[in-house]
Amino acid sequence: MTAQKNALVVGASRGLGLGLVETFLKRGWRVTATQRSASPGLAALRSDALTVETADIDDDHAVTGLHDRLAGQSFDLIFVVAGVATQAHEPLHLVPREVAAQVYLTNAVSPVRFAETFLDRLTPNGLVAFMSSILGSVALNESGGWETYRASKAALNTLVRSFEIRHREAGFGVLLLHPGWVRTEMGGADADIDVATSVTGMVDVIEGRFGRTGTAYLDYTGKTLDW
Ligand SMILES: NC(=O)c1ccc[n+]([C@@H]2O[C@H](COP(=O)([O-])OP(=O)(O)OC[C@H]3O[C@@H](n4cnc5c(N)ncnc54)[C@H](OP(=O)(O)O)[C@@H]3O)[C@@H](O)[C@H]2O)c1
Repeated sequence: MTAQKNALVVGASRGLGLGLVETFLKRGWRVTATQRSASPGLAALRSDALTVETADIDDDHAVTGLHDRLAGQSFDLIFVVAGVATQAHEPLHLVPREVAAQVYLTNAVSPVRFAETFLDRLTPNGLVAFMSSILGSVALNESGGWETYRASKAALNTLVRSFEIRHREAGFGVLLLHPGWVRTEMGGADADIDVATSVTGMVDVIEGRFGRTGTAYLDYTGKTLDW
């Protein structure tokens, strides 16, 4: 019998984070899920294997408070899902500097700072996952658009690679995942796939990655993406 795995899913109030929590629970994991404010979706899950916590990843005080509350726990997976796409449809020069800066902070800086804070809670041979996007690929940018969002996810990819190199001796694995283009509030109604398809694929990818080190940039089907 394999031991029950334990995940910390950050940014799970709705959309992909909520779908991931549901899928991990169905597969027998224990899950600690974070929200910024009361999430009806998380409240509806009603599972003894689920703990719901509150934290905003942009708030260092809230993140260290969460770290203190979770003292004594260890996680096989820490997955930072939270992200924003504020004014993503506007070209860079039409986006106020403060908005562009905030997208960068939430999508690139805060996820890596969160992971750094929680590294002492990762089990040996565990995985740290970050929700990237194919839009973060510089090489695959043939269509333009989503400028500040693309740049923030490219920055996330770069910061995560450096994070993994800095900790390489520790022996954990790192994933940058592209969920597909998914029908959530961010993805919109015209997106390619539903949440269930995306999260089932991502959980398959995650469960297949334990024991592997280094950073992989993969989509929800397990395909490697160009940087
Ligand atoms: N949907 C897609 O097609 C797609 C494609 C590629 C990548 N992604 C990425 O996938 C992730 C999830 O996207 P989604 O489609 O599920 O979007 P979503 O429905 O808009 O959900 C975004 C989630 O992030 C949380 N969040 C935002 N800022 C936060 C912060 N500062 N601290 C903590 N939580 C925060 C939100 O919490 P609140 O409820 O409190 O706002 C919500 O739970 C994002 O990183 C996104 O960039 C999505």
